[in-house]
Amino acid sequence: MPTRVALFLLLAASLLSAQPAQWFPPEQLMTIGVYYYPEAWPESQWDRDMANIKKFGFEFVHMSEFSWAFLEPEEGRFEFAWLDRNVELARKYGLKVVLCTPTATPPAWLTRKHPEILMVRADGRVINHGGREHADWSSPVYRAYVEKIVEKLAARYGSNPSVIGWQIDNELSHYGSGMSYAPPSQQKFRAWLQEKYGTVDRLNRDWGNAFWSQIYNSFSQIEMPNASDLVAGINPHSQLDLQRWFASEAADYLRFQASVLRRHTRNQWITTNYMMTYDLTDPALSEKDLDIMSFTMYPVSGGLFRGDLGFRLGDPAQVSFMHDYLRNLGSGIEGPMELQPGQVNWASVNPWPQPGVIHSWILRAFALGARFVCTYRYRQPLYGNELYHKTIVEPDGVTIAPGGKEFIQSIQDMQAARKLYRPNATPPADYAARRTAFLCSFENRWDIENHTQTTRWNTTDHWMKYYRALKSLTAPIDVIPDSKDFSRYPYVLAPAYQLIDQDLIARFTSYVENGGTLILTARTGQKDKRGHLWETLWAEPIYALTGAAIPKYDVLPEGRNATVTANGKTYQWGAWGDILEPRPGTEVLATYADQFYRGSAAATRHKLGKGQVVYIGVDSLTGELEADILAKVYADNGAKPARLPLNLMIDWRDGFWTATNFTDTPQPLPTPPGAKLLTGANPLPPGAAAIWQ
Ligand code: GAL
Repeated sequence: MPTRVALFLLLAASLLSAQPAQWFPPEQLMTIGVYYYPEAWPESQWDRDMANIKKFGFEFVHMSEFSWAFLEPEEGRFEFAWLDRNVELARKYGLKVVLCTPTATPPAWLTRKHPEILMVRADGRVINHGGREHADWSSPVYRAYVEKIVEKLAARYGSNPSVIGWQIDNELSHYGSGMSYAPPSQQKFRAWLQEKYGTVDRLNRDWGNAFWSQIYNSFSQIEMPNASDLVAGINPHSQLDLQRWFASEAADYLRFQASVLRRHTRNQWITTNYMMTYDLTDPALSEKDLDIMSFTMYPVSGGLFRGDLGFRLGDPAQVSFMHDYLRNLGSGIEGPMELQPGQVNWASVNPWPQPGVIHSWILRAFALGARFVCTYRYRQPLYGNELYHKTIVEPDGVTIAPGGKEFIQSIQDMQAARKLYRPNATPPADYAARRTAFLCSFENRWDIENHTQTTRWNTTDHWMKYYRALKSLTAPIDVIPDSKDFSRYPYVLAPAYQLIDQDLIARFTSYVENGGTLILTARTGQKDKRGHLWETLWAEPIYALTGAAIPKYDVLPEGRNATVTANGKTYQWGAWGDILEPRPGTEVLATYADQFYRGSAAATRHKLGKGQVVYIGVDSLTGELEADILAKVYADNGAKPARLPLNLMIDWRDGFWTATNFTDTPQPLPTPPGAKLLTGANPLPPGAAAIWQ
């Protein structure tokens, strides 16, 4: 008997602790799925649609997002039959199902009965029913209703073998309407502060409330800082805490929903879909609560990006960054849950993407290790807010749209690649030797963006310049929070690390002394983690690392650029220039060529222990200076980088090389003799992708 009990317990435990590899077997490489909203279409079309989704090669279907009014049409009356039938149809056609908690759309019966759950905008207006994400996540009343619907859903589908996973809510963000300033949020913010500081005196000290007599006598006097309410702007330290609190509250809401789902789910993963490079939530805070990571990706939405074709191609750095980041959180399984299948409807202008580029975005996901891609959405809505949004099929519901064809092509590429999958493929040594940890700190971005000191500075653009530069060296990149161990990387890049503490400085120092190459960039080291300046010379705590002082920095007005030279080449800059004063023994890598500080150093290299610290204090207009300096540093280290044009990106994954061309001209590919192209062409046209082995 005891053995039977033990066996049973073992079986139960193995069911409960499904490994990520079971959900996304490595030999499957990448699985491709699509969103479907059955509640929006006549039941007579469900079977046809599901059959076509299968026929086109999709492997999973995403359902039930935004469907609260269909799942619980009146308080306490639950209707699952329609979803049951669709889950069953998916099973019939051999499609897996991803379900989504419908909590982004609390129904009218709920918001009218409990208007106190509605979010309040920064300008004090209560958001009305009729859009989505109109509730305040901190509201206990709202959470009680969320718990009921999520628990019911989980109980019904938590052990359904067709259902492989769950998405929680949708793009926690309030879609650009900012934070909710409703009373429940105010209350939780105060509680968070009380927990963090213990006494209001400590808060007064860390918020610098001696400035302008902002002293509080008790936590009860504090409200969420809100620029619309304040004369002369927000106290920067309170603003940073507000951002920290908001991200932690979003993570708390995800944790809450995940814990409700886990009461019933068996062998199903849980995720949420973060917005690409959106900065008010922080995926790292949820890496223990979510089984896999996902995000939403709409690269062509009116941005010019660069060159003639940029507005049709999107920015390959932004397209790639989230993969390299989310792959380094939690289980390591990531993918875009929504990938743009054509024109969108929500930007100020919504151009048609370059033919072929949707295929490229999908293959870029593949190249960077994504285990799934899901596209938004299968059918073009005939009514509602998104009817200009292209989809997989045309408005007739059956004709394959151009984006649908690119998805089908990608599905076929994956099927071909699976046949060539070799489980033990290891990355080529020279490629691995360039592996770079790209430290990503949301706090730094918040703090810089709260006071950029010049409208010409954009932190995300600064990050992307370095991302692009590293990719032009075919460097594999792991974007990681600085709390993770970076000691095993040959290169560590910490871009614009404005907030720093003694602990990080000590970790950087020991990393370099042990042989690492640390690259620091403009604005680093100015403040402590509260956002206070150091009571030292400007950014002095990093001088021992960089081997150079930073007596001043400069910023130039719009329309005025200045020059910097490196290795006989001249570059322009305008957003930020740290003027460096190297100590003896520190090498100068770039020099200002004009202004009153002409001849001063703009970039330096300092040998320390067995390693070196490179400091690039200037932010160039095009990022070519940064790319040239990194190329020199990597080459001097013997890392043999093959220089690619900026925006042609080539990566290795599971034995496959994948190239994507986001430049305006055809690009020759560095394929070795005898290489077999699985897809694409050489030279590679703009917007196209190729895979070879
Ligand atoms: C996303 C959102 C989706 C849908 C999509 C349209 O940001 O998560 O629900 O609205 O945009 O492009």
